[in-house]
Amino acid sequence: MTYQVILPAAGQGKRMGAGKNKLLLEINGIPVIIHTLKVFAEDDRCSEIILAISQQDELPFKELLNKYEIHKDIRFVQGGSERQHSIHNVLKTVDSDGIILVHDAARPFIQKESIHRLIETARRTGAAIIGVPAKDTMKIVMDGAVKDTVERSSLWAVQTPQAFRISLLKTAYERAESENFIGTDDASLVERLPYTVMMVEGNYDNIKLTTPEDLVFAEAILKKRKC
Ligand code: CTP
Ligand code: MG
Repeated sequence: MTYQVILPAAGQGKRMGAGKNKLLLEINGIPVIIHTLKVFAEDDRCSEIILAISQQDELPFKELLNKYEIHKDIRFVQGGSERQHSIHNVLKTVDSDGIILVHDAARPFIQKESIHRLIETARRTGAAIIGVPAKDTMKIVMDGAVKDTVERSSLWAVQTPQAFRISLLKTAYERAESENFIGTDDASLVERLPYTVMMVEGNYDNIKLTTPEDLVFAEAILKKRKC
């Protein structure tokens, strides 16, 4: 069973504060975007990679693809002002058959084994996401005061990739656009159709690089993997 993957990569990395797209920063001497691309480029089941990018990043990204000899079928689509708009722009360019993954380009540590478990579930059910059980105690806080402690056993921290039947994801994106709904992930658009989304347990090291200290965690994750 093959799949296509959308990699939203058109952000500005404001919270990273590097003055450029954080995907161009290096971990162990290799740019973040290359770490992420390699996972999918080396997966035989991945039939196409579609990158949502900003115009100013097109040239540097293409140079990196050449330099690191990433030869997979990779397509570039213009990103939008919000992550959701970037992904919607890509969805408008794909056919409705099959399974599509959405994976933040800023999560370079996703592993092939997790991707394949996710795809299997999405193929059976139509919609599946990767996440991990919450480790911390969670509380609802309003105006600085704790209002409630939430039962942790049913709480999961959500990551990407998220996998869907393409026709279902397209419907969800069209509905969200017509109702001016902006979600914080792709599944939330599908959930509100309504449609049941399945959770697949992933790994705690599938972190998203968001702020500068995440680069320190990233180096540590790579070091651990090399041992
Ligand atoms: N993204 C995108 N289009 C946007 C905004 C974000 O394709 N308009 C992508 C980012 O490139 C990233 C992923 O969505 O791979 C997750 O977004 P986030 O971690 O928020 O990255 P940035 O938006 O770049 O960072 P920040 O919010 O700190 O500016
Ligand atoms: Mg952002």
